[in-house]
Amino acid sequence: MRIVLTGATGFVGSNIGKVLTDRHDDEVIGERVDMTDRQAVASYVASAEPDAVIHCAILNDWDRMHADRPAAWNSYVEATRNYADAAATADVPFCLVSTDWVFDGTQSGATEDTPPNPINLYGFLKAASEIIALDRGGAVARVMGVNGTHWARPAAPRAQDPGFGYFVASLVDALEGGQPFTVWEGDDINGIASPSLGAMCGEVMRAVVAGGHRGIFHCCGASSATRRELAAAAVNAFGLDPSLLRFGPAPAEAFAGQRIPFDTSVSAVATAERLGTPLLNLDELLAAFRHERTTGELAPLG
Ligand SMILES: NC(=O)c1ccc[n+]([C@@H]2O[C@H](COP(=O)([O-])OP(=O)(O)OC[C@H]3O[C@@H](n4cnc5c(N)ncnc54)[C@H](OP(=O)(O)O)[C@@H]3O)[C@@H](O)[C@H]2O)c1
Repeated sequence: MRIVLTGATGFVGSNIGKVLTDRHDDEVIGERVDMTDRQAVASYVASAEPDAVIHCAILNDWDRMHADRPAAWNSYVEATRNYADAAATADVPFCLVSTDWVFDGTQSGATEDTPPNPINLYGFLKAASEIIALDRGGAVARVMGVNGTHWARPAAPRAQDPGFGYFVASLVDALEGGQPFTVWEGDDINGIASPSLGAMCGEVMRAVVAGGHRGIFHCCGASSATRRELAAAAVNAFGLDPSLLRFGPAPAEAFAGQRIPFDTSVSAVATAERLGTPLLNLDELLAAFRHERTTGELAPLG
């Protein structure tokens, strides 16, 4: 397939791109076109003549998103409209990458059909973008607790944040270097989630666009975990020293006074059944990530 992929240089996008090229021999068109420029996006997609469009780019700047609401709206909602419309004009499948933060943190085990109830600006912008993608006949692939390798920028700094993304890499980096790592705990951060692996998310999205599927899909493993449980499983999977783990509250600046959904565990059973994609447990996900770190390649599927 020939696939337009936005955000190809980002963490999640680099995983989607690697899965498409390395596992499926797809051609990825990943130029950085300003996603808020409607005319530029329309021309870009029309001239690329793709078989599908996956929109993964994001204004990933928490402070700017809050300080400049029009820019945030344009970068999330209007950018989604631009790519969804361009894909519809080209009559090819469209998939928006979204998030478990469309849920409110009390909707434990939310399925693909559970109505979202976002509690912060990011969740609201993503939920609004989802409606546009679905309304245009496209698909929504919610990623969550994304761990794995940043294939485009392997040296990019990694740090724990109020979500679950990058958690395992930052923990492994610290412990492998003999440094302590404080696992954040508290009611004010995302404390329970359904971890995933970036490459596994890419596999789900490939199945979505290859099958021309519409609707909502969840990209995560079979298990949910607290931060403490994920830390323990990572220490075990990577053979690390558990005495370097510490536990404590997140620094206040980590969430800038925003409400963070606490329990965003979800189910991906319906996604796996519909697409025939694997639903890995936590240990299998971590083993696949360890394979990536030690070989520099994607783990074999299955
Ligand atoms: N990471 C997670 O754990 C996680 C969890 C849930 C959902 N998600 C979703 O996954 C998607 C990607 O997130 P990420 O963590 O991979 O973000 P990221 O690493 O910050 O990547 C963002 C990408 O968007 C591009 N971009 C930014 N502004 C742009 C613009 N105006 N026009 C075109 N491209 C632009 C960036 O390009 P430059 O680098 O060139 O600026 C980069 O390729 C988002 O939809 C996010 O909601 C991620």
